[in-house]
Amino acid sequence: MKQITSAQLREMFQSFMESKGHHRIQSASVIPENDPTVLFTTAGMHPLVPYLMGTPHPAGTRLTDVQKCIRTGDIDDVGDPSHLTFFEMLGNWSLGDYFKEQAISQSWEFLTSPEYLGLEKDRLAFSVFAGDDDCPRDVESHDLWRSMGVAEDHIFYLPKENNWWGPAGLTGPCGPDTEMFIITDKEPCGPDCSPACSCGRYLEIWNDVFMQYNKQADGTFVPLAKKNVDTGMGLERTIGVLTGKKTVYETDAFTGIINRIAELSGKEYGSDEETTKAFRIIADHMRTSTFILGDERGIGPSNTDQGYILRRLIRRAVRYGMQLGMTEGFTAEIAKVIIDQYKAAYPELGMNSAFVIEQLTQEESRFAKTLKTGEKEFEKLWNNLQNTKAVLESILTAEDSAAKANELAATKKLRPSPDMLPIIEAGKSGDSAAVKAAVEARMAGLNVLDGRSAFKLYDTYGFPIEMTMELAAEKGLTVDREDFDKRFNEHQEKSRNLSAGAFKGGLQDHSEETTKLHTATHLLQAALRKVLGDEVYQKGSNITAERLRFDFAFNRKVTPDELAEVEKLVNEAIAADLPVVMEEMTVPEAIEKGAMHVFESKYGEKVRTYKMGDFSFEICGGPHVEHTGELGSFKIKKEEASSAGVRRIKAVVMPKA
Ligand code: ALA
Repeated sequence: MKQITSAQLREMFQSFMESKGHHRIQSASVIPENDPTVLFTTAGMHPLVPYLMGTPHPAGTRLTDVQKCIRTGDIDDVGDPSHLTFFEMLGNWSLGDYFKEQAISQSWEFLTSPEYLGLEKDRLAFSVFAGDDDCPRDVESHDLWRSMGVAEDHIFYLPKENNWWGPAGLTGPCGPDTEMFIITDKEPCGPDCSPACSCGRYLEIWNDVFMQYNKQADGTFVPLAKKNVDTGMGLERTIGVLTGKKTVYETDAFTGIINRIAELSGKEYGSDEETTKAFRIIADHMRTSTFILGDERGIGPSNTDQGYILRRLIRRAVRYGMQLGMTEGFTAEIAKVIIDQYKAAYPELGMNSAFVIEQLTQEESRFAKTLKTGEKEFEKLWNNLQNTKAVLESILTAEDSAAKANELAATKKLRPSPDMLPIIEAGKSGDSAAVKAAVEARMAGLNVLDGRSAFKLYDTYGFPIEMTMELAAEKGLTVDREDFDKRFNEHQEKSRNLSAGAFKGGLQDHSEETTKLHTATHLLQAALRKVLGDEVYQKGSNITAERLRFDFAFNRKVTPDELAEVEKLVNEAIAADLPVVMEEMTVPEAIEKGAMHVFESKYGEKVRTYKMGDFSFEICGGPHVEHTGELGSFKIKKEEASSAGVRRIKAVVMPKA
C-alpha cells in the first residue's frame, strides 16, 4: 500500500490539476452564502453553482480546490466505520471548457501514473450511467475508459440511483457521472457483484460529474448552454482506501484526535464496540463543530438552523464524552488538537481559535446544567409511567376489575384525563371485561413517550430530542417523534420570525434624543438579524443622548457592505414611518406572537412589547417614540470587536437633511 498523508494528497491533487491548467482557489465557507436551500456546503461544487450556471469565474474556466464539506443528513449513523459529518473534498472543474475526454484522461493519469497515485490498473473499476427516460446511456465515458486500457469487465453501467449527480438543492446543474473504485482483496459477493453493492469489494475514491443539464423547479431537465465538469474526491475516505485502513478513523485525519480522547478518558479506541462508537462520534462531531465555529462565517450554537445542528453536534459529543468518563472542559481540549492539525490548510481555524474554545466551553457547561435537569425530568416522566402502569395492573389483577376501577377513580388515583376516561366509563357500567379491555388498550400506550412530554423536555429544559430518544430506548420506550416534530417545527417557525431580545440595557435618561436612539436600537437589531442572520442577538446596550452603543453576538467583523445594507434597512424603516405599538402581554403570549424565546432565561409575569410594523418586535420596557419617522436618519459610526464573539456598533440619529 502506498503510504500517503492527507497533507500530501491535498497538495498532490491540486498541483497535478495546476499542471493541467487549473487555477487553485480557496475553500469557501461551510455556511453557504445566498443559498436558503441547504444549511451547509455539501460538496466542492456547491459554492460554484453560479459559475456552473454561466457566471464567469474571476479565476478562469479551470479550477481546483479542497473544500470543507458538511453533510448532516446521516448524523445518526456516525459511529459506524464510514460515516462522517465533516470531510474535505478535492475537486477540479471545467466551466464550459474541456468535457468528458480530458476529464477522464486526467483522472486516469492521476490514478495510475507512478508520479501520482500509481495505482495498478487491474485494481481499478469504473461505473458509468446506464441511461433512462431523462438522459441517454453514457457510451462516451465507457468508450473513453476503454481507450485508456480498462478491461470491459472493469466497467459497469449503473442507473441514476448510482451514476447521477443531482443538484445540491432542488434545482440546479446536474448530469451523469462516472465513478472510480479501488478493487479490494474481497471476493465478489455473487455473480451480480458490482460497485453498486456495499459488500466492500469496490471502494469509491473519485467521481467525475458531467454537468449537462439544469434541473428546473418543475422537475424537467434543460440542457445547459455550456457543459461543465465537476469532480469530487473525498480526502479522508481516499486516504483510508489508499493506505489500506479499515476505517476513516484510522487515517491520519483522526489519529491525533483519537489519541487525545484516549489521553483524556483513559479509555482505549477499539477496546470494545461501545467505546469505539463513542470515540468515533466524539471525534467526528468535534471536528465538524470546530470547523463550523472556526469558519470565516462561523456561528455559535443556537436553537435554529445551522446553530441548532452545531448545538446538537456539540451536545452529542459531550454526552458520549461523559460516557467515556471525560470531565468538563474536554471539548476545548480536543478542539485544540483539531485546530493545530488543520490550521495550516485552513488558517481561519487558527484566527478564530479563541472563539472556538470559548463557545465550546460555554456550550459544554450550559449543557451540563441542562442534562442534569433534563435527566431528572425524564426520570419523573418515567416514574409517572411506572405509577400509571402499577395502577392499571392493579385493576387487571383485581378480583372485580370494575369495582377496583371505581375505587381508584373515586380516590383520583385514576385521573379523569382523556386517556383514562374509557376505563372510568367502563367501570361505571360495572362491566369488568370492558374495564380490562380498556385497561389493556391504555397499557399499550405506556410504551410510548408522547410528543408533548418530549417537546417539553426540549423546550423547557433544552434536552435534545435525540437524547430523549436514547434514554427512552434504554427503558424500552419509543417516542412519538411525529408529534414532537410537529411541535418542534411550529416552534422553529416562531423563533425565526422574531426580532426580539428579552434583555434591555441601560438608558441613561428618558430625554427625547435618548428615546429616539432607543427606538433606533430596535430597528438596528432587526436589520442586523435580517442581514447577518438569526444568530445575532443583543448582548448589551448603552444609550446616551448622543449615541447608541449596541453589543451583539457575532463572531467576525461585519463587512462595509453589510453595514451599508443594515443602515439602508434602518433608514427604510424610518422612511416608512411605522407606528410604534406598545402592548402588554405575558411572555408565552409574546413568544406565541413571534417574540424571541431566549434559551434558559427566566421571565416575570407581564412584559411590555414594542412592535414596529413587520420590521421589529421586541420584549422591552420602553420608552420609545410613536412613529419611526421621528428618528430622521440613521448613521452607523463604528463597528468593532467588543469581546470574543461579540461585536459592538455605535450609531447616531440626526434630523433628516
Ligand atoms: N459533486 C460531486 C460529488 O460530490 C463531484 O461527488
